[in-house]
Order: sequence, then C-alpha cells, then structure tokens
Amino acid sequence: MSEKKVNMAVAGATGAVGNQMIKCLEERKFPLKSIKLLASRRSVGREIRFKGELFAVEELTESSFQNVDIALFSAGGDTSKNFAPIAAKEGCVVVDNSSAWRMDPEVPLVVPEVNPHAIADYTKKGIIANPNCSTIQLVVALNPIHKKCGIKRIVVSTYQAVSGTGKKAIDELFDQTRSMINFLDYEKKVYPHRIAFNCLPHIDVFMENGYTKEEMKMVNETRKILEDETIGVTATTVRVPVFFGHSESVNVETIEHITADEARALLEQEIALKVIDEPAKNLYPLAIDAAGQDLTYVGRIREDESISNGINMWIVADNIRKGAATNTVQIAEMLLKNCL
Ligand code: A2P
Repeated sequence: MSEKKVNMAVAGATGAVGNQMIKCLEERKFPLKSIKLLASRRSVGREIRFKGELFAVEELTESSFQNVDIALFSAGGDTSKNFAPIAAKEGCVVVDNSSAWRMDPEVPLVVPEVNPHAIADYTKKGIIANPNCSTIQLVVALNPIHKKCGIKRIVVSTYQAVSGTGKKAIDELFDQTRSMINFLDYEKKVYPHRIAFNCLPHIDVFMENGYTKEEMKMVNETRKILEDETIGVTATTVRVPVFFGHSESVNVETIEHITADEARALLEQEIALKVIDEPAKNLYPLAIDAAGQDLTYVGRIREDESISNGINMWIVADNIRKGAATNTVQIAEMLLKNCL
C-alpha cells in the first residue's frame, strides 16, 4: 500500500453492505486522512464505531462530497444515479455498489482479480462500478478457465442469501423463522412470498424476456468483466433461506478440453480461490463456511459427461464481503495505488 492517504466517504453507511465496507476499511488498514459516514435523514443522530472511535452519521446531501477523494456508495440505485455524478463533479472518485452504472460503456466494471486494468477508465466519468454479488464470485472462479481454455457457454443457477436484499430482508427471515417454529402467524414485507423454509425463483424484477433483472445482470456483467461478448450465459437466480453466503451451481462449456483434475489444479493456484473438493469426506464449499471470509470457494468439480468439453462446479462466497464490500474496498485500494 502506498503512503498516500485519502479523505473517504461511505454512502449507505447504516446498511448491511455499507457497514461491512466500514469494517473492511478498518480490517485492511486503508490509509485514511478522514472518513465521513453518510445515510438518509432517518439515520441522523446515529453513531457508528470505526477504529474504536464513534462517528456521527451525516445526511447524504449535494454538499457531502466537498474535499472527499473517494466515496464508496451502497445506498441503492436511485441514490447512486442522483449523487454519484454530483460527487464526481467535486473531483471525488465514486466506487459504486449499486447496479445504476454497471453497464454504462464509460464506467469500468471491475473485479480486481479479473480485470484490474479497467480501473484506469475511471477518468471518463469519475465512477467505477462494483459488479453484482453473484457475478463477482462467478468470474473470480471462471476467469482462470477462460484464460486457459476459452469459455463458450455458462449455465448458472444460484442459491442466494437474504442479506443480498439488505438489512430488512435479514430481519424478515429471522422474524418469519421465529414465528413459524412457534406456530404463530408471520408477516411478509420484503419478499412477495414467505422466505422462511422456502425458495423463491425470483430476484429483482421480472423483465419482458421472462428473466429477472438479477439473471440479466449475471449475463451482461459476466461478458463485460471477462471482456468477451461471444460467451453464452444463461442464469436462474433463486433466493434461499440463508442469511449470508451465495452458492452457485455452474456448468461451463469450454472451447478447448480440460479435465476435472486439470481444472482443479488450475483453480488451486489462484490466491483468491480455495478449492474444497473431497466428496468422499463430505468436504465441499458451504455458505456457513464462506460467511465472514473474503475467499471464493470452489468444489464438486467434475466433467459434464453429456458434452465433450464441459465442467460442472459449485462456487460459494460471502455476498456481503467478496460479493460487495471487500471487492469495493479492493477497487479503492488499487485506484489509490495505481491511479490517484
Ligand atoms: P438509512 O439507514 O438511513 O435508511 P440496506 O441495503 O441494508 O437496506 O441499506 C441501505 C442503505 O442506503 C442505508 O444506509 C440507507 O440509509 C441508505 N439509503 C437509502 N436511501 C437513501 C437516501 N435516499 N439517501 C441516503 N441514504 C440512503
């Protein structure tokens, strides 16, 4: 890490991801001159601990970004749409966790292990986008295979934790579970159906083509990050009653052949990945093990016997950490080291 220090703002500091961003900045010893914690007017009066000190939450307004060098945003798409350009105008570089800017051709969409060079394009709009949580863990695991064999097609089904929807959804799963096991009536506020003891094949809104927005994020963002529009991607995204950690069942068709053993050996070399693949001992990646960690876990690696060049695998990561906060902070670290 360079000796440079920055004035930092975190927009959405009271939310599930914003809170983790603050923890990541502390854990990773991000070199800060100052930190500003921003949220809606509702949160004014709250205090958040950072490095042992209490910081007052401030209301996010148009003047919040004066003299701020980098702002990490996780306060929803509308807030990002409105305030990221205002921050950028002040000379502040925004690293945005919402989907608002991800597919803008002038905004880089970055996973540091995959396309770190793209960060340099932040100069076009002063904004860098952090990808969707499910996409991040997918491309971290698949990039080594794409580089070695070329990926032709990806078929992915996800099993996504409620924390991806935010704090209210964490509370909803907790409250519904407690109500159900006590034979009480339960309330539904966040999801259209009960999430406790259930799976919902519905994440984000449905689109005209019958897919959900989350599914199309996985399709479009994967191609943008891997910088290959020829890759076929199809996704089914499912919300499951898990608090933290997204799991993915992934089928990959490659251009050149790769055996399961070769794929396992290739993935074992990656620092950002941990291969857990000993089915005889019941060892494979689990959301409960990935929760609280920054690595992406891969297992159940096996050849798809129905096609000539196919591999199946199971990919798991903490959606709030590597899927959101950690990736955002890693982008900010690279930005500081190489660009600012
Ligand atoms: P607040 O807590 O004041 O509502 P989550 O995704 O976990 O629900 O968190 C969303 C985050 O985005 C929270 O910090 C929330 O602040 C913040 N937020 C939501 N809407 C706005 C807004 N209009 N202006 C500023 N912050 C917002």
